[in-house]
Amino acid sequence: MKLWGGRFNKGTDQLVHDFNASLTFDKRLYSYDIMGSKVHAEMLARQGIISEKEAQEITDGLEKIEKAIKEGKLEFNSSFEDIHSFIEKYLTDLIGPTGGKLHTARSRNDQVALDIRLYLRDKIKEIKKLLLLFMKTITELSEEYIDVFLPGYTHLQRAQVITLPHHLMAYYFMLKRDFSRLSDNLKRVNVLPLGSGALAGTTFPIDREWVADKLDFDSVCLNSLDGVSDRDFIIEFLSIAATMIMHLSRLSEEIILWSSGEFNFIELDDAYATGSSIMPQKKNPDIAELVRGKTGRIYGHLMQLLTTLKGLPLAYNKDMQEDKEGLFDTIDNLEIILKIYPDMLKTMKVNKEKMKQAASSGFLNATDLADYLAKKGLPFREAHEIVGKAVLYGLKQGIELEEIPLEKWRELFPAKNNIFNKDMYHNLLIEKMLANRRSTGGTSPEETLNIINKEKIWLNKA
Ligand code: ARG
Repeated sequence: MKLWGGRFNKGTDQLVHDFNASLTFDKRLYSYDIMGSKVHAEMLARQGIISEKEAQEITDGLEKIEKAIKEGKLEFNSSFEDIHSFIEKYLTDLIGPTGGKLHTARSRNDQVALDIRLYLRDKIKEIKKLLLLFMKTITELSEEYIDVFLPGYTHLQRAQVITLPHHLMAYYFMLKRDFSRLSDNLKRVNVLPLGSGALAGTTFPIDREWVADKLDFDSVCLNSLDGVSDRDFIIEFLSIAATMIMHLSRLSEEIILWSSGEFNFIELDDAYATGSSIMPQKKNPDIAELVRGKTGRIYGHLMQLLTTLKGLPLAYNKDMQEDKEGLFDTIDNLEIILKIYPDMLKTMKVNKEKMKQAASSGFLNATDLADYLAKKGLPFREAHEIVGKAVLYGLKQGIELEEIPLEKWRELFPAKNNIFNKDMYHNLLIEKMLANRRSTGGTSPEETLNIINKEKIWLNKA
């Protein structure tokens, strides 16, 4: 079952075989391996390296194998080393010695580099689609919650009032950057390594540009050593994935906090929560916690590959077989999370009253009052100092700024008594505070809607 038995006097030790083999995980590349092989065979025939008839036999054989695998009729037998040996061996069993011509002008080194690029290219496109759906959901929810507001936090201390859509759209923009990073990554994934041979190119008159065109690659790699040993495009993908799951983890953390009894801002739908085996009252945000937990694992995959590659001399080394499992695991996890999250957000109950309550106490209008005084001509620093003192007074009395009567302001700050006016209370109302933050990218409902509408146009074109 080996592609390289000729030079050896005896077979491989069983444990060594198992340790060396990658079929258990690279089997998922089978359709990409076959896709690449078919185009390779066609190119060999076009170039007169094999006959048209031989290429046709090879293509027919590969198609039969693909169908048999798809239908579950051909099992991945563990006596094979990897997906490449597996397919080649079955091809030869099926069509005879002609099958052995497929590997002309090719090595498993450029073959595996091709397969992984074809696979990752498809997966990036899928993930981009899922991201767009998620982003669309966020814009829809933002429109739905346009009049909902809550405290915005810094240091997890209540800071200023913001709208819920403003908060949600912050995640939209994180995902939009991830989307753009993936588009950029795709450019470097979409370069053809096939034709690099084992490491030095090939003596056969191959046509790499034709193969690239057939397989929809933008270009061919221009150094065969680099072609077989470059895994930067996977590192780049993993680093984007790490950034993406970091974003999802921050969202998860807020979902976890917000669904706690202390916040009680949201309640997850039963379909997206779990219970406790001992405490009957519990409803836990396990899914969000698991996403937060998966983040460590995906960072690990990035670190693993960086470390695996750092000491490798050119060109191919078997260490590079370790590029796959972490990548596959990252993609599997991202795909499932991106499928779950939009619906989890769509179905969660938003507790508007609780958010409103939290936004109504804790001096969230202190900045607004300082701004008001500054607009009356007071240097902002002095305004800040005055409001800070007023907050101290409010804390002592157990009242909010808007509950301090006008006479009290004048009494507390006699030197500035003419600056305090009835109209200042108006600026301390939540609706007014929100509406006043009209600066580009600010939280006012007007500006938030403006941005949502712009992004909806972008989404329709993306
Ligand atoms: N299973 C190998 C891998 O994933 C395929 C390439 C093997 N090439 C070699 N020269 N041993 O990297």
